[in-house]
Amino acid sequence: MKADLPLSRRSFLRTSGIAASWVMAKMPLSLVDGLKIVRDNSNAIIEPLRERATRKGLLYGAAASFTQLRNDAPFRSHYTKECGILVPEFELKWSTLRPSKTVFNFKLSDWLLSFAQSNAMLFRGHTLVWHEDLPEWFHKTANKTNTQSLMEKHITTVVGHYAGKVHSWDVVNEPILPWQGQPGGLRNTPWLKFLGPEYIKTAFHIAAEADPKAILVLNQNHLEYENDGASACRKALLALLEKLTASKTPIHALGTQAHLIGNNRSLDHRKYCTFLNDVASLGLKIIVTELDVSDQHLPYNIPRRDSIVAETYSDFLTAVLQEPALIAILTWGLSDKYTWLSRYAPRADGFPVRPLLLDTQYQRKLAWTAVSGAFEKK
Ligand code: XIL
Repeated sequence: MKADLPLSRRSFLRTSGIAASWVMAKMPLSLVDGLKIVRDNSNAIIEPLRERATRKGLLYGAAASFTQLRNDAPFRSHYTKECGILVPEFELKWSTLRPSKTVFNFKLSDWLLSFAQSNAMLFRGHTLVWHEDLPEWFHKTANKTNTQSLMEKHITTVVGHYAGKVHSWDVVNEPILPWQGQPGGLRNTPWLKFLGPEYIKTAFHIAAEADPKAILVLNQNHLEYENDGASACRKALLALLEKLTASKTPIHALGTQAHLIGNNRSLDHRKYCTFLNDVASLGLKIIVTELDVSDQHLPYNIPRRDSIVAETYSDFLTAVLQEPALIAILTWGLSDKYTWLSRYAPRADGFPVRPLLLDTQYQRKLAWTAVSGAFEKK
């Protein structure tokens, strides 16, 4: 495949190979272990994540946006090299898709689907039913009598528009939040308020009707760590999944978002793997849907910070890659240049955050090495 690369692409690979060798020389040996150098006729290059994941029967990809991929050519080049599945960060959410109750605007998401298809990538849909990113008109008009038809119309139109072209859909996003005290630990959302707990089951049935081929996913956050909140989330979610699967709801996978914290050492491998295995025993697949590692409270020192972030990726992936039901890992972004955490979890010292695998110049960081090494060790 490399032999037919255009000259410019081959020289780029050679440069990145040299840069990567330089980085390797600086790496702590523990992180170099497992980093496979793939040599071919264009000198040393380090196998991109999408190829490394595929060799292990997995998918690797990242969230990205229309603006990032359309306007930033260097980012686009690194993204197509590293990612085998694309999930739009914004373009399939209500606020972008639905400027008004009667208008669906697929322009940006269609461009992203076409981009994925032309770069031999799969395409993930995120997300159909969520309490955030709902447009103003929804908040002004939704009520007990019209929300069922609003949800039905949305799912049927959007999933139908992409039928047969989407790998998986996050049908319901973040439905669990036990510390709000609702029955079943459900999050208090407009969907729960107007439709009751059955909204989750209904959403999956409508989505399955609109695209029988797509993997239908319940996507959840706060599942990874060993603390009261996360263990309550895992408990409530497992009970919900048991009810959904027992009632023959067309749900096929759990999405575990995995927004990790760099200085949090409370990931209990045994408990998290047992939870994932309990989910898998219901016949569900597992997708890591939004992996990133916040360095908000880590030391300023960049080599130290990068090393802790990399070790956090490595520790989490060592656990999750043990689960046979795992089918894909997506990071929530690929480069620090475009991470949502620069707004959502900024550093008190005001310095740029460094949660992802490539830095703002698209150079592979220790975090990239940790993820590629974890795939290698699977
Ligand atoms: C985030 C985006 O990345 C931000 O840019 C936006 O401002 C808010 O939403 N869990 C999810 C994602 O399911 O949709 C969120 O994405 C991050 C948390």
